[in-house]
Amino acid sequence: MLIKTAEFVISNSDVDKCPKDYLPEYAFIGRSNVGKSSLINMLTNHKNLAKTSGRPGKTQLINHFIINKNWFLVDLPGYGYAKVSKTAKRKFQKFITNYFEKRKQLASAFVLVDIRHEPQKIDLEFMEYLGVSEIPFSIIFTKADKLKPKAIERNVEEYCQELLKNWVELPPYFVTSSSKAIGRDEVIQFIEETNQQINTMR
Ligand code: GTP
Ligand code: MG
Repeated sequence: MLIKTAEFVISNSDVDKCPKDYLPEYAFIGRSNVGKSSLINMLTNHKNLAKTSGRPGKTQLINHFIINKNWFLVDLPGYGYAKVSKTAKRKFQKFITNYFEKRKQLASAFVLVDIRHEPQKIDLEFMEYLGVSEIPFSIIFTKADKLKPKAIERNVEEYCQELLKNWVELPPYFVTSSSKAIGRDEVIQFIEETNQQINTMR
């Protein structure tokens, strides 16, 4: 699929104010700084469509981007940002769970994990939450440019083994690098196929 247009639509802290259009959407979630916003820029071939930063906590709102005028990519704030208060964390959790529970247009979530790290409790718990809530998701390993191919293979394998302790089946997963544009075609193809499935069901 060719990405012909990618446009910012709106930022929100309230899921009820997100675009009303009933178009398939794909949301990026994961720890702060894992590379959610960078991945949106890589997938859309834009440098600064989504705002990125070396400091965690850059994305604070629900950001909708419309692609080819017929589906959305959604940039979300990161979880697990240590420097915020407990009250702020609770507020944030509510606002994220509201998004996942209310947004019926959500075709799939992408849970991003840094390929360099061992499986983290917070990510595994979030996947568990998506599973219980019957929200389809895929895993996107980020920052693959930081590791050699052997280490990538080993870490992905370890991650899958960890998941299989709790899951009967593995979710789809992708190895990516936003700086080297690794994994772009695979993610775009997954979105294209999912869009087609949704359109045939309508
Ligand atoms: P929050 O909005 O704070 O939750 O962060 P985020 O997940 O949106 O991360 P963001 O895209 O802002 O990237 C965080 C940092 O990681 C930035 O310094 C990026 O340049 C860097 N980064 C993102 N993706 C990659 C990648 O594939 N490779 C490398 N080497 N660095 C990356
Ligand atoms: Mg961000």
